[in-house]
Amino acid sequence: MNKELCMYQLPQIYQKGTESIWTDPYISGQLLQAHLDPEFDGASRKRSFIDASADWIEEQFPQDNHSEIIDFGCGPGLYTERMAEKGYTVTGIDFSKRSIEKAIASANKQQLPIRYIHGDYLSWQPEESYDLALLIYCDYGALSKEERKTLLKNMYGALKNGGQLLMDNFTTTQLTAFNEETSWSVHEQSSFWAEGEHVVLNRSKKYEENTVLEQAIVLKENEKCIYNIWKYFSTEETLTRELEEAGFTVKAVYKDVVGRLYEEAGETLAVVAEK
Ligand SMILES: C[S@@+](CC[C@H](N)C(=O)[O-])C[C@H]1O[C@@H](n2cnc3c(N)ncnc32)[C@H](O)[C@@H]1O
Repeated sequence: MNKELCMYQLPQIYQKGTESIWTDPYISGQLLQAHLDPEFDGASRKRSFIDASADWIEEQFPQDNHSEIIDFGCGPGLYTERMAEKGYTVTGIDFSKRSIEKAIASANKQQLPIRYIHGDYLSWQPEESYDLALLIYCDYGALSKEERKTLLKNMYGALKNGGQLLMDNFTTTQLTAFNEETSWSVHEQSSFWAEGEHVVLNRSKKYEENTVLEQAIVLKENEKCIYNIWKYFSTEETLTRELEEAGFTVKAVYKDVVGRLYEEAGETLAVVAEK
């Protein structure tokens, strides 16, 4: 098939699009707004959930033996700020320039001594210096199998011996409810996906390995962009296996990062794992 038409074919599992939604100059701005909307469960969870989560994290990982925290995929700093306000020493890493700039400005305004790193947590070389690593709001599920291994290796490498990881992911319950769909829409004005006139082709498709694709192909006057959003759904067994392969020991399993009781039919699961 010719190169022009090839882009409309179904991608291989975990194939990258032409852009990432988190670093695309326009869409990352839309996502930053979503992060900062206190009532929207978009790029970050609602503020009431994050407040409860930060309180639960403080309870579970008291400062006297978990004073150094690193937040992987910290976004504009919703968790890092709450933990810094509680007195922890906090580092956040994120590859969205917009989010990190917002996080730095907000920390400066509040005089919170948070260290921010603008970088890719898949290639960042950590030093063993943290007591607690956070990976919150199902970032894990957006990664390919190889990337998941790399991230677990990096989080392991960032922790002191005995350090803890708290992370969450989507469960296969969400996979059962997932519908395959194909649709397209014409936009005369800016939308989430692009500025000005454009057309969006959307496709949702189930793949093997508990993975789905939510794809958007955005057609603009002189440009085509492909956004491949992959979602990998975990079970308690698969996540435990992957963590153990990376050297962790799973200490506890919850429904979410507020510490609700784990439910097999829940839409998310959260784990605490130890190095
Ligand atoms: C779903 S958001 C969650 C943000 C934050 N943890 C929260 O709950 O408010 C995912 C975040 O991970 C960041 N991210 C995704 N892949 C990344 C990577 N490879 N390296 C660094 N940051 C990444 C995105 O920019 C985004 O800020």
